[in-house]
Amino acid sequence: MSTLSSPAGNNDKSMRPRLICHMTSSIDGRALVPLWHPVDVVPAGLWESARARLGADASIMGRITALEYAEGKSPYPATTEVIERVDHLPDPGPAKCTVAIDPGGSLSWGRSNIDGAPIIVVVVESTSDRYLAGLRSEGIYYLFAGKDRIDLGLVLDKLGALGIRQLYLDGGPATSGRFLHAGLIDEISLLLLPALDGYTGAPAIFEFQGERDNPPFPVTRLTLKSSEVLDGGVLWLRYDVQNRPAS
Ligand SMILES: NC(=O)c1ccc[n+]([C@@H]2O[C@H](COP(=O)([O-])OP(=O)(O)OC[C@H]3O[C@@H](n4cnc5c(N)ncnc54)[C@H](OP(=O)(O)O)[C@@H]3O)[C@@H](O)[C@H]2O)c1
Repeated sequence: MSTLSSPAGNNDKSMRPRLICHMTSSIDGRALVPLWHPVDVVPAGLWESARARLGADASIMGRITALEYAEGKSPYPATTEVIERVDHLPDPGPAKCTVAIDPGGSLSWGRSNIDGAPIIVVVVESTSDRYLAGLRSEGIYYLFAGKDRIDLGLVLDKLGALGIRQLYLDGGPATSGRFLHAGLIDEISLLLLPALDGYTGAPAIFEFQGERDNPPFPVTRLTLKSSEVLDGGVLWLRYDVQNRPAS
């Protein structure tokens, strides 16, 4: 696979992929499985089989969830190299890929793919040269999604331009909350497990730090498209999400 370098701001909105937010929840709406009771309520293969049935080309996750996949033992070394702020992406676009949002440049990967799917890291132009050089040294791709702050719509546009048609949002709650409030989620796929967290303060499946309804909450309708009882008393609910048109 050769490499495509495109300007940091290049995008094509007409190609935006369908975004399915796939989350696992206790019946009290919490997201951190190790805190739930009873323990061991996740049937073997649940995530893998549901994910295969969703049929996404790629997954996207936040930096903290991505830590579960990163294998690097130490931060990337300092560099004197000055890296040009152009996207570093596979050409042609990959059949599958795993995308991680890490504008602060803190993940050290120690690998270039996850189950064969190349890793693409979402960065910003202010991400350090040290980090970008480290990603390149490991054969990891990256794309720029803003100068200092991530523009999530631009992330979707750039992934769409790579040929990704259906994207699976793999959390965690902070990242799902940001996509939700940006009005970018097309479907919520919810695995509801027969478990309870039961304590104040544990993250819900969507978390967002912001003033209530300022800007207005973007979701105007949730339409149940399917419900299914899976092994282990798991309920799989899928909702189409209608968002207020962007002004
Ligand atoms: N129940 C489920 O379905 C489910 C699914 C996935 C994960 N999880 C669990 O959730 C936990 C992690 O979730 P989390 O909410 O703490 O973190 P997260 O969503 O995995 O990652 C959040 C971080 O990603 C970066 N990020 C994401 N979007 C960004 C944006 N638009 N702009 C700037 N930075 C952005 C930021 O990194 P910086 O902090 O570096 O700025 C942010 O703090 C783990 O315990 C994991 O096991 C549960």
